[in-house]
Amino acid sequence: MKKSIILSLTGVLLVAGLAIAAGCSAGPAGPDGAALYAQKCLICHSESSMANYDYETLAEWQDLIDRMQSKGTGYTDEEGQAIAKYLHER
Ligand code: HEC
Repeated sequence: MKKSIILSLTGVLLVAGLAIAAGCSAGPAGPDGAALYAQKCLICHSESSMANYDYETLAEWQDLIDRMQSKGTGYTDEEGQAIAKYLHER
């Protein structure tokens, strides 16, 4: 009885481990746009005011992000691209 519980627990852990491993390898490469958006944009803007803006294309988002970059929150071009991509796709 005890042995079968241990065996099934091992199975559960194995499956969970595989799921975590798969999640990691499928994750986005490079900077995390969502986290950067929260850090670099939401200090000046609220989520509800941002909801008024929905640009059609990635280029328009990128344009906005480039303008906001000069406001002095400090993000690299690469981080800016990740934010633009996140806002475009969400
Ligand atoms: C230091 C404060 C500050 C930060 C940080 C900031 N903004 Fe802004 N944002 C402003 C101000 C002020 C305006 C008003 C228009 C202007 O001055 O360009 C604005 C305008 C906007 C607008 C209105 C549309 C437009 O064309 O002006 C949007 C959308 C926007 N910001 C999104 C963002 C996003 C996304 C980020 C993060 C990458 C960000 N902002 C970071 C201050 C900030």
